[in-house]
Amino acid sequence: MALIAPHGADALRPVIVDAARRAELESEAETLPSMMASSAAAANAVMMAAGYFTPLTGYMNRADALSVAKNMTTSEGLFWPVPVMNLAEGATVTAGQRLALTDPNREGHPVLAVMTVDAVETLSDNDMAIILENVFRTDDPQHPGVAAMTAQGRTLISGPIEVLNFSYFEEDFAETFRTAMSIREEIAERGWERVVAFQTRNPMHRAHEELCRMAMEDLSADGVLIHMLLGKLKPGDIPADVRDASIRKMVDLYFPANTVMVTGYGFDMLYAGPREAVLHAVFRQNAGCTHLIVGRDHAGVGSYYGGFDAQTIFDEDVPEGALALDIYRADHTAFSKKLDRVVMMRDAPDHSPEDFVLLSGTKVREMLGQGIAPPPEFSRPEVAEILMAYYQELDGHSAT
Ligand code: ADX
Repeated sequence: MALIAPHGADALRPVIVDAARRAELESEAETLPSMMASSAAAANAVMMAAGYFTPLTGYMNRADALSVAKNMTTSEGLFWPVPVMNLAEGATVTAGQRLALTDPNREGHPVLAVMTVDAVETLSDNDMAIILENVFRTDDPQHPGVAAMTAQGRTLISGPIEVLNFSYFEEDFAETFRTAMSIREEIAERGWERVVAFQTRNPMHRAHEELCRMAMEDLSADGVLIHMLLGKLKPGDIPADVRDASIRKMVDLYFPANTVMVTGYGFDMLYAGPREAVLHAVFRQNAGCTHLIVGRDHAGVGSYYGGFDAQTIFDEDVPEGALALDIYRADHTAFSKKLDRVVMMRDAPDHSPEDFVLLSGTKVREMLGQGIAPPPEFSRPEVAEILMAYYQELDGHSAT
């Protein structure tokens, strides 16, 4: 059976170039004006290169960015949840020129992409307010996504791009970084038809592990795609390499062979809650998944979003038929002392909060830093061990 169709296109449209074209672009770039991309713009380029942002092949102009922010639709009518922008602080290029974008995240800042500039526009205060309010539901500079976006500047340089490489992701996460093309290929090879994706930027504790199992069972899925974010995070979040090691350990020990693919994608976290959940759905569809788990406070931060806003947005703002992928709605999930297993709270209506093993992120971090493993009902001991080693080294360093 054919896999689920990509979003807005018959086939993926990755803008990564082959070796011959890369060589051409590298020599052309030497003659071009160049500009160092923001980390967010670089991440957008990597996502377009890896096929995840199909059918987009370039950065949005002002009209599209505003239309996407307001209506989740480009001026041409494509459903898209978050503006894909190349914002800068001023520009020395004009429309029609070619521009080399260099990589802010690699030593020596090599060329990441070459673009044909369609437009150079300035976002007004009002434009920025519209984008922030719609994408993040706040303009609070304390919000890490708002802070990252507003730091990029107001000059919007739009147009199609060709991308030379996958930035630092390929080298730093050789085993885990994957393109949408390669995930699709592997899903087809495995003969999977129903595939449920699990988005994560955190290590996986018992609740996350069980969510994957429950989704697999409820959906009669052939497999789970654990798809972790490998790009930039706010300070305090666990770095991708540590998270990757702990997730791989959990999968090796606790899942039957050939039921889980552990993979990652190169994007910076937006912390945009509901809007980011919709973006997550779009690019998991592009990666060949039929479902995406959306649980409590998906892609959220602090208390900016309601616990299940990232689910209701699919009912309220995503038009029927805009996506081929369905979401799997998970309720707050935790270990029940009464039932001696992890459950969704909606399935345990007779429970009170004390019946669950509930630990705050801050508490868990504190315990791990002190070398105290959280209870096995919360964390697999082998996972806790990896996290304890990380925090103890971190705290040891910061103490000196
Ligand atoms: S996220 O920013 O990538 O969404 P995280 O890695 O913590 O953060 O969560 C991954 C997924 O698991 C999200 O869909 C989130 O809603 C869900 N999730 C995390 N913890 C719980 C929980 N205790 N109960 C229900 N869903 C959860």
